[in-house]
Amino acid sequence: MHELHEPFHRLRLAFEHRLHRAVVTVPHPAGNAPLLGEPPRRIAKEHALDVAVGDDAAANHDAYSPAGMEFRDILERRRMVRAYEPEPIPRDKLERIVATIRRAPSGGFSQGQRFVVITDDERKHALAEAAGEEFYVEQGFPRWISGAPALVVVCAREEDYHERYRLPDKVGEDDREIEWPVPYWYVDAGKAAMLVLLAAIDEGLAAGVFGIPAEWMQRVRELLGLPDDVAIVEVITLGRGAQDTLSDRRSSRATHPRKSLDELVRWERW
Ligand SMILES: Cc1cc2nc3c(=O)[nH]c(=O)nc-3n(C[C@H](O)[C@H](O)[C@H](O)COP(=O)(O)O)c2cc1C
Repeated sequence: MHELHEPFHRLRLAFEHRLHRAVVTVPHPAGNAPLLGEPPRRIAKEHALDVAVGDDAAANHDAYSPAGMEFRDILERRRMVRAYEPEPIPRDKLERIVATIRRAPSGGFSQGQRFVVITDDERKHALAEAAGEEFYVEQGFPRWISGAPALVVVCAREEDYHERYRLPDKVGEDDREIEWPVPYWYVDAGKAAMLVLLAAIDEGLAAGVFGIPAEWMQRVRELLGLPDDVAIVEVITLGRGAQDTLSDRRSSRATHPRKSLDELVRWERW
């Protein structure tokens, strides 16, 4: 049995040597389980997000993908990129990125987050015009909205929260829905958006974010055919990052200093 695993062991050591760190082994489902009398462990699968509720209820702390990045590496790369290579994003990559919405937390598991994924050129151009792409072009940025291979419109359906919080396990003693301390539907949309930004990096892509000005909102809603009960929160641009020389000089992150950690994080009390 040891011999059977020897080549894999050698391969793993070779990887470790190259990476200067330990490589997590993902056990094969068949593995040694029958011999050891243990139930087979599930292998970490890229498409585990498609598994129905119940099947994937338990957290899987195995490596997501042998090619995936460490969280700290992803965080280091987390920045808005406003220039993309024109090549389309392979459909499976795009699907994996937006499938992260099913891992996003939500108040009471209301799941009020929604995405609209746009790859169609005409629709991207219309959205770019409504979002004021011309303003960026005048500043010297490339057409980073219409030119992004994909856009993800991040939306929130508030009613999902009201429906959920009127259910027996969520109503108070007076049988009424809670007073909402903050609009969790927008908070949770932001959490889903964050997963997209991080998943994009994990897939070797770059991302940006823009908002839709209030005066253009109705036009964009019509463009997307949004139902009345779904609100747009923000739009994410996705693609392979190209040379973005201006974001470091002209975007808000360049013109405003990063606040100190002490200003942002207090310990034990304000
Ligand atoms: C809700 C939201 C809206 C944003 N809107 C825009 C926008 O309209 N145009 C833009 O260029 N950047 C936009 N940004 C990006 C911010 O300017 C950017 O996150 C900030 O400057 C920090 O830079 P970094 O993300 O590269 O670290 C937005 C970000 C968020 C979260």
